[in-house]
Amino acid sequence: MKHRYLAPALALTLTLGLAATGCTNIENSRDLGDPKVSGTTIARQVCALCHGVEGRSTSPNFPNLAAQQPAYFIAQMKGFRNHSRVDPAGFEYMWGLSRSLTDEQIKTLADYYAAQTPASPGQAGDPAQQARGKVIFEKGLPEQKVAACVACHGTQAQGSAQFPALAHQHADYLVKQLKVFQRTDERPDGSIMKTVAHALTPGNMADVAAYLQAMPAP
Ligand code: HEC
Ligand code: HEC
Repeated sequence: MKHRYLAPALALTLTLGLAATGCTNIENSRDLGDPKVSGTTIARQVCALCHGVEGRSTSPNFPNLAAQQPAYFIAQMKGFRNHSRVDPAGFEYMWGLSRSLTDEQIKTLADYYAAQTPASPGQAGDPAQQARGKVIFEKGLPEQKVAACVACHGTQAQGSAQFPALAHQHADYLVKQLKVFQRTDERPDGSIMKTVAHALTPGNMADVAAYLQAMPAP
């Protein structure tokens, strides 16, 4: 009865470890270090905890991934994996999770999320704020030299290739990222966004983010 001397936490780890090896099931594995586990399984077993099973998350801390552009998605996952994307929430949550994923798994994850139904429009802001946000999105702010978002993110904010979809993304997440681009170099792939965000005031950011979260569905 040796194992009665094991500390409870260690005993639990061993039991779980044995259970995991005892019934290795590649279809519902949570092992992020096994290249044989498919990206789809990882999405449902691991990523779902924060981003939702189909990439529509309930908490604004976790961005929606449903209908995200695959090229953008892949670039961000590689940025977390190689530690070039260093915004604090990104490295706290995503560095460890992406560390051992293969290129193949990342591609499958990107395709999985791209195929999901996008999040529905959320409620955000009052009509006046929505109207101000729409102007920024469609026309930019020429006096402040802020380019129109539509030029790169698309008329429905659906994105294309390396330009991310923004439609119905959580407003809090959008504002957080605009501040990252404006004030830091924590997302070096976003140098183009640094120029765009340069002259946005906190009020402008809140307006455009509220508009994007609630944007009418096409
Ligand atoms: C414990 C919670 C958690 C889990 C599990 C998780 N993520 Fe994340 N993820 C986050 C947070 C928080 C952010 C936002 C980071 C930020 O603000 O920069 C994020 C951001 C992302 C982004 C960037 C989105 C964008 O619009 O730029 C991608 C892509 C992503 N996660 C993919 C995944 C994948 C794939 C998995 C599963 C392997 C996963 N995440 C698992 C918390 C999580
Ligand atoms: C000249 C092209 C261009 C314009 C104009 C532009 N963007 Fe972007 N935007 C990008 C690119 C490229 C990225 C991806 C950056 C990266 O890979 O880190 C991006 C990323 C973002 C992100 C991060 C999304 C995420 O999921 O993390 C937000 C938020 C954003 N843009 C908002 C805006 C807003 C708001 C406007 C209008 C005021 C705007 N963008 C105008 C090119 C543009």
